[in-house]
Amino acid sequence: MARSGKVTVVGAGFYGSTTALRLAEYDIFETVVLTDVVDGKAEGLALDMNQSRWVEGFETTIVGQTTGPSGEGYEVIADSSIVVITAGLPRKPGMSRMDLIETNAAIMRQVAENVARYAPDCVVINVANPLDEMTALAHIVTGFPHQRVLGQAGMLDTARFTHFVAEELGVPVGSVTTLTLGSHGDTMVPVASVCSVDGKPLTDLVSAEKVDELVERTRNGGAEIVGLLKTGSAYYAPSAAAARMARAVHEDSGAVMPVCAWVDGEYGLSGAYLGVEAELGKEGVRKVVETPLTDSEKALLVEAYEAVKAKQADVKDL
Ligand code: 2OP
Repeated sequence: MARSGKVTVVGAGFYGSTTALRLAEYDIFETVVLTDVVDGKAEGLALDMNQSRWVEGFETTIVGQTTGPSGEGYEVIADSSIVVITAGLPRKPGMSRMDLIETNAAIMRQVAENVARYAPDCVVINVANPLDEMTALAHIVTGFPHQRVLGQAGMLDTARFTHFVAEELGVPVGSVTTLTLGSHGDTMVPVASVCSVDGKPLTDLVSAEKVDELVERTRNGGAEIVGLLKTGSAYYAPSAAAARMARAVHEDSGAVMPVCAWVDGEYGLSGAYLGVEAELGKEGVRKVVETPLTDSEKALLVEAYEAVKAKQADVKDL
């Protein structure tokens, strides 16, 4: 595929800068823009990344830009077809993602207003936490159609679940299929019924207790890393997940991925951003794909929906 177009990553922390580098290394974009409010940070990181191009063999250029509180500098994102929003604070040990809601909502409002102003036709991929709520807020503030605003979480949670299964059974990650739906939080729904290893059902390979243990570790996957790092949160797996979603949008690939998307009748659920499988293309979410679920998985998905819907009802006032 010829190199084309512009993708922006807002926020040059570890998550944002790693996402920007992954996107640049795909070598499918003309330009990757990286912005941050810390003076010189995005410019410095972009210069460093550009200097890696010869070694790594990619031609995409990275443009760094400091942005100001009133939107100064945002002109640089004009014509971006995709904007990945990573701006926001990460958790500290002991915090839940929900503890970030007020601080990150204020940041999201400012960012989303500028994204809507300077890149009005883009697809927004939000990764800021609490994920489902910040995705809903990005939709409200941008006023974009629902399908053009989505969130990254299911890819990450699925990647974590896959890793834990592969590690437990001592098999390559490539032989493992897992899936998580629901929220990126306490009501995450790992879908054990579709999990397999080389086509064999996971539930035939490990005990029900072991599946529960792997599921619980997945649910706490982010907190486990926050606890180890002590400052900051995970970014290698999260950035891989976000970059793959942006790539699917850019290539209009139709790839089906677990993402945070607006449900409008699927599973009998409507009116909330929820972790579901969706087909991605250049308009964002082409359609939500209903995964066959067992009755108990469906009940957990409904529980997740009710929890995120209640919270999302409040975000417009934040
Ligand atoms: C995580 O789970 C950053 O929310 C992200 O690590």
